[in-house]
Parts: sequence; structure tokens; C-alpha cells
Amino acid sequence: MKRLAVLLLELCLVAIAVFAADWLQGVVDVIPKWLIRLPEVSYDAGDFWTVMQYFVAVHAVVLGLGQLFLGAWQPMDARRTVNELFLLAVAFAVAALLVFVTTTVAFDPQFVVGILLVNLVVFTLFYFAQQLPAVGVWRSLIAFLGALLRRVFSLPGVLAMVLAVSPGILAKLFVSNRDVANVITQIRIQLSTQEQGEWTVENAVGGLKFHQPILVQFPPGVTDEMFVLERQGRLLRVPWKAQGEPRLVLDISAKVGEVEVENGALGFAVHPEFGRAESTNQGYAFLYYTSVLGGEQVNYLSRFDLSAGDPAVVAASETVLMEIDRVDDGFHNGGSVEFGPDGFLYLALGEMSDKRSHQAIDQRLSGGVLRIDVDRRGGDVSHPIVNRPDNAETDHYFIPNDNPFVGMDGALEEFFAIGLRNPFRISFDTENGRLWTGEVGSTVWEEVNLITRGGNYQFPFVEGREATGKSKPSALIGKEMAPIYTYRHTAYERAVIGGIVYRGDRYPQFRGKYLFGDNYSGNIYALQADGEPVESVDLVGKANQYAQRGITSFAETPDGEILLTTLGSASGSQGEIVRLVPKDQATIAADPVQVVEEPVGLAEAQSLYSANCSRCHGTGGRGDGPDSKQLGVSVPDFSSAEFQASRSDADLYAVIERGGSARGLSAMMPPWGLALSDAEIHALVGLIRAQAENTVAR
Ligand code: HEC
Repeated sequence: MKRLAVLLLELCLVAIAVFAADWLQGVVDVIPKWLIRLPEVSYDAGDFWTVMQYFVAVHAVVLGLGQLFLGAWQPMDARRTVNELFLLAVAFAVAALLVFVTTTVAFDPQFVVGILLVNLVVFTLFYFAQQLPAVGVWRSLIAFLGALLRRVFSLPGVLAMVLAVSPGILAKLFVSNRDVANVITQIRIQLSTQEQGEWTVENAVGGLKFHQPILVQFPPGVTDEMFVLERQGRLLRVPWKAQGEPRLVLDISAKVGEVEVENGALGFAVHPEFGRAESTNQGYAFLYYTSVLGGEQVNYLSRFDLSAGDPAVVAASETVLMEIDRVDDGFHNGGSVEFGPDGFLYLALGEMSDKRSHQAIDQRLSGGVLRIDVDRRGGDVSHPIVNRPDNAETDHYFIPNDNPFVGMDGALEEFFAIGLRNPFRISFDTENGRLWTGEVGSTVWEEVNLITRGGNYQFPFVEGREATGKSKPSALIGKEMAPIYTYRHTAYERAVIGGIVYRGDRYPQFRGKYLFGDNYSGNIYALQADGEPVESVDLVGKANQYAQRGITSFAETPDGEILLTTLGSASGSQGEIVRLVPKDQATIAADPVQVVEEPVGLAEAQSLYSANCSRCHGTGGRGDGPDSKQLGVSVPDFSSAEFQASRSDADLYAVIERGGSARGLSAMMPPWGLALSDAEIHALVGLIRAQAENTVAR
């Protein structure tokens, strides 16, 4: 009876500590900044009550067991009180881990650690409150410290302390290590009871993987090939439902330099006249990328001429339109480059961690959508640049005459819309020209915005639909615009990725819907894209990768498919181009050979053989090619029955793919796996077999 009463009292104290910690984290940094730099987290009342329930429940179990095995807590007993403090540490660790891993609350370490601190202080105070009047300061202090030391150097004490710091270590790993974050996020998503949607994704390009793909784009009029931009600064042409291998078009990775946080090659668009033989713009493509060399960051908007063909020549064709010096922290670059139906180029810029750019358009290019005329048409269409920014060199473009801030005193006339924090992806609705963006928010709200001429999207004084407490400028530039849709951060949902308004015929249920996602949770959503604000959206499905490896973009193919890119890890090529498919039509990841490649015919194999193999192996495969004498090893005679009988197709395949060393043979036989596709190697194996049959027939 007494134990139960004590336990109830203790649980009341724990509940009070949760309230106190909630208050405390608003007043001080419970975990000092110099110890760990934690991201700011904002939890709401629902999150608060979830934490309350978990903490009270776990404490009931842990402290209850304590009462059972150690007897009721008597505050005047130093040893028993110290034991109770250690039990509090254990209960804290268990509760914190459970909240962190199994719930979707916005997890604020400051708040949670505060609960433990308040608990420890309150329970200790109970001891002193009872002991001080009885035995005085010194004796109560000595008894307490003695009991504490004994417990600290005991096995249960050490175990309890290790357990107590484990949430901290996990939190540290979570913010500093992508792989850990990914695993935890995956567990969270598995354990969360949220619905999953009716759609799923599958690799759309025959199992090909990429190194951190950022976006895909089909050039105008092209249906069988797309551009793929990889984050480290590589641009590839990749066949779409057609035969062939990815081709490198441009590689600026040396200039992109260090790719960390939100850096890299972020935006890409080809000129609307791309590929038109009669146009001087036929080879032009525009790239927005960051360059971090020696710790200093510069962001570039550049034009490249892809018609040169050779990647090195393409790289040398760079013409810089904007060279933006920025704070070197890598965050909030924005990124999208898109041509509007008006033929002007739109560039979405983040606020680049620079307060000076907030709600100002007279000094710095950042925190908005820019609109420029790269064709420098002049006349009543556009005019040369009037005002230059403090943070950037600008050249090689004009300002459209109807830009909203043209003629405004001191304004950088490039601005089309302002007050944006980090509009990572923008896209035009191909049916009505409306410009959509997913705007990544700071600690509480994500936004989907419809960008209008002269719109002011209220950052930093409003986020979502909520005032942030930052002051609103007295003379507001542009017209205040609220988001179309906004959602609150949860533990695993916190970075919106703007998508596309679907206008294809393949999936009528998505026609006229804006499809977008969350990079972190992998959730894919749809909302009615008629321009009216919405309160809720449909969960369509989930991408295949989460956390920092998650969704980076959406695209619609000319044949009406919906593609997403997922980033994958920074260390390897695990990024993917996936298509959205109804769950019941998803196929199991198919063998690459069967999907992208049609079988290579004998004639084609013959020409591959002549080009690559005959100089050593001879035109008839007898091992008598012109180079065979200089190799120092004998080249086998493919036409001999003995050779044919002693090798399996797999043996031949292995040697062609990986070279002589694949089967302990001479390295004079080079590997071809990088130069030839699977289907081509298969065809060559067939050809080598045919060389024997010919001989027999002869
Ligand atoms: C630079 C010369 C050279 C070229 C080019 C070359 N090979 Fe070879 N290849 C060799 C030599 C030498 C061997 C024998 C190695 C040994 O027996 O140690 C060999 C062996 C082989 C074998 C037999 C492996 C075995 O089981 O004994 C196959 C199959 C083969 N090459 C296929 C090809 C094909 C297909 C190509 C063209 C795509 C090609 N080679 C191009 C030099 C060449």
C-alpha cells in the first residue's frame, strides 16, 4: 500500500517535470550549443501529450520495479535516493528511445533531456528537504556523495549511465551520419501506422542506378532519350524505352568541388529551341550549380553549348550569367532552372542563409524567383541589366520589360517573386502556364506555393499560415501571398519536394493534380491544382528511399509516365529514376538485360567483333589477328572443337566482361564490361560459338 502511494507520488513528480521541461526549453538551451549543435525543433500540443504519456508510462514500469525490488523510496535514505536517481536515468533512456524510434512526434532533445534534469533535481531536493533539518548540511551532503560514488562505480551504475547517454549518442549520429539517419527513418516509417497509399515505385530505366540524381528532363520533341543531372556535376543522356547506354554529356565535378549539405548541381534546363537545326540556340543548356573549392562557396548560373559533343569541349563552352558569392554554409541554395511558356528563364533562389536578403530586393540576388531574357531580345521585350547586386556578377542576359519590379528605385529587376526561403523545385503547368513550387521551410512548416508575378511569400515573418514573430516590413514589397498548401513537420517529414502538374493521358486519375513529395518521408502526395488553397492532400504512395536519400524531383515523360528521382547515398551510385505505378501492376525489379536492351543481332555482334576483338583474335577467331604476335601469350583458336567443348557460355561471358584475370588467364585479354552492354557481350558469346560452327560446316 505504501509502495503504491509512493509510486503515485513519484509519477506526479514526473508529470510535473514534463511540464517544467516544456517551459524550461523555451527559456534556456538545456543542452548547450557548444556541446552539440542541434537543429531547432518545434513540437505541438499533440507531440507534447505523446511525450507525456510515454514518459509517465515508462516511469511507472521502471520505478514500479524499483519499489518492488528495492522497497519503497524513502527520501531521507541517501542510498535509496541515489538508486532512485539511477532508475530515473534508465526510465528516461527507455522513454526517449521509444519516443524517438516508434512515434512520429517532432523530437526535441532540449525538451526531453530537460525532463531528466528536472526529475534529478526534484528527487534530490526531496532528500535534502528531509535530511537537512535532521542532520545538518555536512552530514547530509557526505552521506549523499558517498552513496553516489558507490553507485557510480558499481556495475549497475555504469550500465545505467551508458543507457542514459545512449539517446544522446543516437541523436548525435542521427544528425551527423546519413546512413544512421536513413536506417532510423526507415524503422520509424515501418513502425508508424500511417497509411501507405495505392501506388508504389519501380526502377524505370532497366535497373540502372545513378550517383545522386537530382532531376531528369526530356528535350523538346525528343521521346526516346532524357537528360539526367547528377549532383556532383555530371550530365548524362539516358535512353528512354530505347536501346543504348547512358552517355556522358558534361562533367563539371571538378568545378562543383565539395558536395555537402545542400550543394551540388541543382538545376538544369535546355533552351526552348534546343535541337532545332535552324536556331542559334540549338545547343544551349542552362545549369545552376554550387562550387565549393577551398571552403569558399560560389553559386553559378551558366550556359553551356551541348552541340560540341565532346564533354571536355562542352565544359569549355561555359558562359557565366550569374556568379553569386554566398555565406559558405551550403544551405538553402534553391535550385530549379525552368523556361516559362513566355520563353524567359526562371531561376529559383533560396535565401542562402543570409538575413540581408530577407524582404529586400535592392542588394542581393537570393530568396526569390528570378526571371531573365537569355536571348537578349531587346526592343519592347527586354532591356539590359540596370542595377547590379552586391553579392553577384551578372552578365549575358536582359531583363524582361514586364518584370514586376522594373523601374522601382534601386531594385534588382530580375526579381519575379520574393519572400521565399528555399524553393528547391519549381515547374510550369503545361496547360495554363502556372508556376508551382515546393518551398522547404525551416522548423515548422512546409509550403506548396503558386508563384505569381510580384508575389511576396512572406518569409521570414510568416511560415505556413503562422506568424513567426519576426517583424514584418512596414513598406512591404510586392503582394502578400499565402501558400496553396502547408504541412507541419513531424519526426520524419520535413522537406517538401515540389513536383509537377500531371497533364498526361496514361493516368486519368492524376490529370490536373499537382504531384509532390517529401524528401524525408518518401511520401508522394497529390492535390487538386486549380489554384485554390487546400487543407488536405491525398497520399498517393511512398518512394523507395528515405531521409537524405529520398526524393529529389518529379517529371512527366512524353508518353505520360510519372518519374521521380531518388538521391541515394553520397558514397555510391544508389540513386534511381523510378516510375509511379499502381501497386497491383508493379513488376518485380526485372533483369536489366530484358528491360532496356533488345537482343543484339549477329550482324551487330560481327561489327563489334571486327572493331574490338579481331586485331588479336583474327577475323575468323583463329587467334591470328595482326596484334597476336606481340602479346607474349598465345591467343586461343575459337574455331577449334576442343576450345568450344571445354568452355561454357558463362566462362566466355566472364572473360569478356572482366578480362583474362576473371578465369586466371593473361591480362593481355582486356575487360570489356565497361565498354559493352550485357546484351552485346551475350551476342559476342553467340558469335564465338558461331565461329566454331562455321568451321565445322566448312
Ligand atoms: C589486345 C588483344 C586482345 C583483344 C583486343 C581481345 N582479346 Fe580476347 N584474348 C586475348 C588473349 C591474349 C587471350 C588469351 C589469354 C590466356 O589464355 O591467357 C584472350 C582470350 C579470350 C577468350 C577466351 C578465354 C578462355 O576461356 O580461354 C575469349 C572468349 C575472348 N578473349 C574474347 C574476346 C572478345 C569478345 C574480344 C573483343 C570484345 C576480345 N577477346 C578482345 C587478347 C585479346
